[in-house]
Amino acid sequence: MTSRSEGLPLEPLWQAPETVATDGVEARGGLMPPALAERFPGDLAVGLVPERPTVIANFVSSVDGVVALGPSEPAAGGGEISGFSESDRFMMALLRGIADVVIVGAGTVRVGSRHEWTPRRVQPALAEAFAAWREELGLSAQPTTIVVTASGNLDPAHPGLSASDVPVIVATTPAGAARLNSRPLPANMKVEAISCGDRVPAGAILELAQRTGARLALCEGGPHLFGELLAARLVDELFLTLAPQVIGRDANLHRLALVEGTSFGEGRGRWSKLTAVRRAGDDLFLRYRFEP
Ligand SMILES: NC(=O)c1ccc[n+]([C@@H]2O[C@H](COP(=O)([O-])OP(=O)(O)OC[C@H]3O[C@@H](n4cnc5c(N)ncnc54)[C@H](OP(=O)(O)O)[C@@H]3O)[C@@H](O)[C@H]2O)c1
Repeated sequence: MTSRSEGLPLEPLWQAPETVATDGVEARGGLMPPALAERFPGDLAVGLVPERPTVIANFVSSVDGVVALGPSEPAAGGGEISGFSESDRFMMALLRGIADVVIVGAGTVRVGSRHEWTPRRVQPALAEAFAAWREELGLSAQPTTIVVTASGNLDPAHPGLSASDVPVIVATTPAGAARLNSRPLPANMKVEAISCGDRVPAGAILELAQRTGARLALCEGGPHLFGELLAARLVDELFLTLAPQVIGRDANLHRLALVEGTSFGEGRGRWSKLTAVRRAGDDLFLRYRFEP
């Protein structure tokens, strides 16, 4: 499928006045190299919270609110939801570009069998511009990938988990760690058993990120992991691409944060505030802030 919005700028349509960075607020991002600024007029700044890594999440949704196809679908990645939108991949690269760590659930990793959670993977032609921006921002060459799994059911040879220049940490349970450690692991991968039970608590994932020195964590899903971070009130902002595709209703489809098996507790019914709107072709790029 040809991308509908290939190469178009993500045109700013509206921004809430209070989100414009003010003096004294520590923020990540700001002005970007010209090759990126051409695609993203204005700047991208994310305010940093002082006491823990700031968490932003990025999802693409169909117009009827679907973010993931059922496991029985032959192709079930985010690309199918966005209609392989090049602009959506640009937005993904931008957010990865300013993140210290990208956090993903094992379900997303298993579906994306060739994916790597770096800017270069989604925008190879702009890899140098992203590298220059990260250097200017004082960030490591590539964000660290943190994969969350209870079972440890991951292939250590997965191309996105075994590139020698992309640090990978698997955040897991003792059983998951035992399973992974029974196999040869690539040199870039560390396994951390950070839970005593059969789930990895959302807070422990962030503590792990903080121990690596991270100030900005990007959660790229999937819906289960995002739901758990939301329930723990640990998501600060959501970047949501609305793709102009109708997927159709099906009991097997996941909707963002309406996930079976996730207890939302106090996270349920939380309101967010729309803070920015951009557009490229028929794709809408929405930014929301969750109040603490
Ligand atoms: N539209 C989008 O923007 C977008 C973004 C991301 C993903 N997706 C789609 O979402 C689908 C996958 O959905 P999903 O909700 O199953 O994905 P997921 O959250 O990535 O994966 C769920 C799995 O992650 C592990 N996990 C998550 N939270 C955990 C925790 N707190 N403790 C321990 N393990 C945890 C578990 O792995 P184990 O089973 O190994 O224990 C769990 O089975 C895919 O089709 C993917 O393409 C869409």
